[in-house]
Amino acid sequence: MASASLLKSSPIIEKSEWVKGAALRHPSASVAARSHPATSLAVRAASSYADELVKTAKTIASPGRGILAMDESNATCGKRLASIGLENTEANRQAYRTLLVTAPGLGNYVSGAILFEETLYQSTTDGRKMVDVLLTQNIVPGIKVDKGLVPLAGSNDESWCQGLDGLASRSAAYYQQGARFAKWRTVVSIPNGPSALAVKEAAWGLARYAAISQDNGLVPIVEPEILLDGDHGIERTFEVAQKVWGEVFFYLAENNVMFEGILLKPSMVTPGAECKEKATPEQVAEYTLKLLHRRIPPAVPGIMFLSGGQSEVEATLNLNAMNQGPNPWHVSFSYARALQNTCLKTWGGRPEKVKEAQEALLVRAKANSLAQLGKYTGEGESEESKQGMFVKGYTY
Ligand code: 13P
Repeated sequence: MASASLLKSSPIIEKSEWVKGAALRHPSASVAARSHPATSLAVRAASSYADELVKTAKTIASPGRGILAMDESNATCGKRLASIGLENTEANRQAYRTLLVTAPGLGNYVSGAILFEETLYQSTTDGRKMVDVLLTQNIVPGIKVDKGLVPLAGSNDESWCQGLDGLASRSAAYYQQGARFAKWRTVVSIPNGPSALAVKEAAWGLARYAAISQDNGLVPIVEPEILLDGDHGIERTFEVAQKVWGEVFFYLAENNVMFEGILLKPSMVTPGAECKEKATPEQVAEYTLKLLHRRIPPAVPGIMFLSGGQSEVEATLNLNAMNQGPNPWHVSFSYARALQNTCLKTWGGRPEKVKEAQEALLVRAKANSLAQLGKYTGEGESEESKQGMFVKGYTY
C-alpha cells in the first residue's frame, strides 16, 4: 500500500511496520512525524481542485437543503418502472427523470442530484440537457461512479464494490460533462458478520475512490451502507457502525483525503428490519448522533443520510429528531426511495399525472428541508408515505 518514496523518506519508521499498516497507529509514529515534518509524512500536495472541492461541498451542505438520489442503475430503475407497470426502456427512464429534474422550485429544498451515467449524458423529453436543467434549478449535478456489488471471495457470503479500474479517467470525463460530486455505495451486512475482511475492503475501496474523486475535482460522497437486514437490536447496529466508520476514516486519512472536501452518506443507527423492538425517532437520533460524535471529525461539512428502506415519513421524522440542537456538521438527507416513492406511484407513467407527481416530490423535498432545520411536524402526511420500503438484500 505504501509507496517506495514514502518508505525511504521516513527516518524512524521501519519498513516492516509500514507494510503491516501499523505505523500510523503507533504513538511513536506521530511523535516522529512532528519532529521531522518536512521529511517524514508530508508527501502529497493538495489536489489542485482543493478550493473548489470545499466550495462544492459547502454549497451542497447548505441550510434547509439536501440531495435527491436519482442514480438508480438501469436494472434498479427497471424494477421501479415495473412496479407501476412500465417497460424498462430508455424513453420511459427519460420521461421519469425529466419529471424529477423539472419539478418547479425543487432547488429550494434540493442542493444536489445524484445521476446515473445515462442521465448525465441524457436530455429531457423537450431536448434540454438534464445537467443544464439542474443548474438552472440551482442544483449541483452528481454522478454514481461505482460499478456495483459482487461476491467477496473468502468472506462470509458478503460483497465488495467494483469500479476503481479506469476511475480517474471516467471521473475527469464526468467533470467535463458537468458533474461536481460523486457517489460510491458499498454495503456491510450485519447478519453475515460482518467479517473483518469485508469491513476492511469496504473502507479501503471507499478511501481509494475518495482520493481519486478529489484529484479530478469531484466531491466524493462516502457511503458504507450498513444494511437494515437482520433481527438485531439498535445496540448491535451501533457497535458495527462504530467499527465501520473508524476503519473508513483510518483509510481516508492514509489516502490523504481532504476531509473538508467530502460528504458522508451513512445509514441511520436503527434496529434491524426484522427486530421486534422498534425505535422511536428520538432513540434513532440519540444513537446516530452519538456515533457521529465519536467517529466523524467536525472538518467534514455534511452528513447526508440514506433512507435504506424506511418509509418516507419515518426517514423525515428521524432526520428532524437529529436536528433539534446544533450539530458540528450539516445533518441532512440524500434519499432515493424516501423522496421518490409517492411521486413514482402518483405518476404511474401517465402524462396527465406529471404535475401531480411533481407536487408529491415537492411535498417530500419540503418536508425533509424542514427536518434539516429541525422544524418538521409530521402533520397531514398521506397513508402512502407511511409505508415501509424495506427489501431484503437491496441492490442499487
Ligand atoms: P435510499 O435512500 O433509497 O436508501 O437510496 C440510497 C442510495 O444510496 C441512493 O444513492
